[in-house]
Formats: sequence, structure tokens, C-alpha cells
Amino acid sequence: MNESIPQLIAYDELSLDAAFATLATEVRNESNTQYDAEAFRLRWLGRKQGRLKLVSDAWLKSAPAEARKPLGIRFNQLKQQIEAALAGGSNKPAVSARVAGLDFSLPGVMRVPGIEHPLVKTINEIVAVFHHLGYSTALGPQVECDFYNFEALNFPPNHPARDTQDTLVVADQQSRPSRDRLLMRTHTSPVQIRTMIAQAPPLRIVVPGKVHRNDAADATHSPVFHQVEGLAVDTNITFSDLKGTLDHAMKALFGSAVKTRFFPSFFPFTEPSADVQISCIFCAGKGCRKCKQSGWIELLGCGMVDPAVFASVTAERRKLNPTDDAYNPEKISGFAFGMGVERIAMIQHGISDIGHFYSGDMRFLEQFA
Ligand code: PHE
Repeated sequence: MNESIPQLIAYDELSLDAAFATLATEVRNESNTQYDAEAFRLRWLGRKQGRLKLVSDAWLKSAPAEARKPLGIRFNQLKQQIEAALAGGSNKPAVSARVAGLDFSLPGVMRVPGIEHPLVKTINEIVAVFHHLGYSTALGPQVECDFYNFEALNFPPNHPARDTQDTLVVADQQSRPSRDRLLMRTHTSPVQIRTMIAQAPPLRIVVPGKVHRNDAADATHSPVFHQVEGLAVDTNITFSDLKGTLDHAMKALFGSAVKTRFFPSFFPFTEPSADVQISCIFCAGKGCRKCKQSGWIELLGCGMVDPAVFASVTAERRKLNPTDDAYNPEKISGFAFGMGVERIAMIQHGISDIGHFYSGDMRFLEQFA
């Protein structure tokens, strides 16, 4: 080590102050940053080549008698500063660590930013596709009246069509009129009715939300799950509009190579009704285990709004305005569709057990970050 020290020009107080200030600054700079404590100690306190030894040799020993005291005082202050830095007087991390009983030199606790739940992500994707087509979002309650969930949707009381819905009913409703009895909504379709009663056409809405059915949980069923409903009512809405809209939506969600196919089906509130299938995204329609060798995956239900639905809506609207004719099926028409969010998310991500969505298992959820 070849240490050098500043030159001391004279022994007057000003010269001493300047010389020691230079050294003090060096001590501070060297001990402020992450530094090698042993090298620091050797450089300043080393018995043979340490800077204090050099100061002592060069300045103290040759000092005139009257300068010894002021020089000695400054020398001792510098020594204390060096020792304090080594012992923990500086703000070096390990030092404060000892003081507070914490080691601040350890890496901090990383806060992982939250992410959307995969179901929320899929809901947002579906809703965004329809927002781009000019649809707005409508919402409704999960605890619903019989009227909105069934009657207005052309499921008459005691009609066998209700059996398909595995309804969870709210207890002690028998004393109420049939239409007011409460139940957990089995689909998002009641929001079609609520919206049409409140708003005249033209109408384009998407309805994301939770629905409830008395289904036993298994790999593909959950008693609580999610749907996105759609409804468009306007003059001259045709089945071609429905086909074009859903074909576009499926391509937007699953990729432009996807084909759609419409199969005759039945829902009390649409006529005609259809089930929509997409070409299997796993085998491109060739046939595989996922599509049960058929090349097609069934994804959603849809159809043209049944005139009986417009009739229920009109009856409700006429309670407020007896001449209301906004939903006269001679003048307007509409289509509706409903899709299961879990099913779509499972196909998008190749998830085989619906239970993963509700388990809260971070190993599953983190894969969607
Ligand atoms: N509500 C139907 C269901 O849950 C789906 C659907 C919605 C069908 C709209 C046609 C039109 O099964």
C-alpha cells in the first residue's frame, strides 16, 4: 500500500483546519458507500503505512511546540471519526442494522402486483368484443324474482321447461304471489327483461354476471358460475345479424381461423333457437379427445327474441304508459345469446378442472400474470 497524505503548508489554525478537513472528507466518502471494512481499517489505522501513522510522522513529530496542542486535538478528532465509522457511527447498512436489530442490507420484501382473476380476464375480453360493436354493459341482481328469471322469459309456472334450470329457490316464499317469489337467478337472461322494461329500442347490451344452479360440483360443473348474455333489439334485426355477430365474436376470442356452426335448439324465450359450435381449436376440426372426435365444440345458446317475450315486456311497460308500443314485434325484432364464461376460459387456457378457478391456489392463479 502506498498511501499519501495532503501536504501541510503551515502550522497556523487555518492551514491545520484545511488539511484535516480534506482527510475528514475522505474518511466520510470512503465509509459512506458499501466498503471493505478491513481495507478501510488498514488504509487509515495500519501500523506501518496507515494514513494516521503518516500524519503523525509527517505533521506531529516535526510540529513546533505551540502547534502541538491544536494539531493533537484535530488528530484525535480524525481518529475518532475513523473509529466511529468502523464501529458503526456512519450510516453504513450493517451498522444501522445492529442498532435497530434489523438487517437493512437484506433484500426487501417484494410485493407482487395483483392480477385479474382468469375468469375476470375472460369476462373482460368477451365484454370488450361487444363494446367494440357498440354494445353497453347492463347488470342485474343475483337474487331474482320468478317473474324476471322465468315467467317473462316464457317459462310459465309449472312448465317442464323450468326443469332444465335446476333452480335454487329462496326459502319461505310460498305465501307470496308466484311472480314475486325469490330465487337465485339461473341465467343472466332476466336482465334482458329488466333492460327492455326500462329502455325502448334500439338496444344493444352485454350482461356479465354470476348465476346459480343446483348442480353437483365436478370437473365441468359448479353450482355458482358465470355467464355473459347479449341482447340486440332494433328495426330489421335478422338471424343473419345474429350469425354474423357471433361468428365475429368467436373469431375475436379464439382466433380468425375458427369456424362457427349453428345447430337447431330450444329455449322458451327465443324462436328460432340455436346452439353455436366452434371448430375445435385443439385439433383444428380434425377430431381429438377434447372435441370427442367430432371436430366441434359447443359454446353457447342463442336465438331470435320470441314475440312472447316482447309481449311480457309490453305488458309491464303499459303499467306505466298504457299506450306504449315500443316493443311491438310487427315493428322491431331482436336476437339474444348467452355463453358460459368458465367453459370459454377453460378452452382458451386448456384447463381441465373448473375447480381450479375457485381454489385460490396461487400456483394456478400466478400462471395468468
Ligand atoms: N339463458 C340460456 C341458458 O342459460 C342461454 C341463452 C341466452 C339462450 C340467450 C338463448 C338466448 O342456458
